[in-house]
Amino acid sequence: MENSKVTIPGILACKSQKKLVMVTAYDYPSALLADGAGLDLVLVGDSLGNVVLGHSSTLPVTLDDMVRHTQAVRRGVARALLVADMPYLSYHFTPVEAARNAGRLVQEGGAEAVKVEGGAKRVGAIRAILDAEIPVMGHLGLTPQSVHAVGGYRVQGRGPGEAERLAAEARALEEAGVFAIVLECVPAAVAEAVTRAVRVPTIGIGAGPACDGQVLVFHDLVGLTPGHRPRFVRRYLELADAIGGALGRFREDVESGRFPSAEESF
Ligand code: KIV
Repeated sequence: MENSKVTIPGILACKSQKKLVMVTAYDYPSALLADGAGLDLVLVGDSLGNVVLGHSSTLPVTLDDMVRHTQAVRRGVARALLVADMPYLSYHFTPVEAARNAGRLVQEGGAEAVKVEGGAKRVGAIRAILDAEIPVMGHLGLTPQSVHAVGGYRVQGRGPGEAERLAAEARALEEAGVFAIVLECVPAAVAEAVTRAVRVPTIGIGAGPACDGQVLVFHDLVGLTPGHRPRFVRRYLELADAIGGALGRFREDVESGRFPSAEESF
């Protein structure tokens, strides 16, 4: 997609042609970096809840949270397609409410598309959002907003018949009109079967190499997430160590009187 603005038709055209690259962002500096690095899509994920707000799940994230962070990311993204997550309970009740809430992410936040978790049972909400002229990305496999319903964060799609079930869910989303589908934490062979079953691109996270694209959480990728590192994360930097070291040196310099120097003073 060279240097031109990434669009929905451009994303669709990448199926089996070019691997799509997506990263999450929650603020202006990370958005600038992601866009500057030439990534295709930037996702304001509701992982905001865990990664930035310090919650233990995505469930406490509100629509107001998502609008505020999408606004910040919008200011840093010029070329990539900007997608915002629909948070928990923002699309679960009526299709009209789902469309109205998606509209806030577009009108107030500046998103160009929204992402909705779940398969066939979300088709009513997805159709209403599409009727409001808002492109929708689907999300299957491990759907973190269902953490209590499925009993934890674990790999999905492992049982007998699961590949067929997930492929059917993906086809339901495709038929409803989504432009891409995130596949999270499913076996590589299942993701491959789902990817073959639909004409829209799949974007994997913990879903093996056969997906049409890959997504990682920004803070995981740069080594800023404390604690357990999921097996599917590749860390390209160890930023927490570097920042911790810098803060330690700052403390030592202040305590010893080495900071500020004469040159750093007026
Ligand atoms: O919220 C998020 O970060 C996501 C990605 C894992 C795709 O939905």
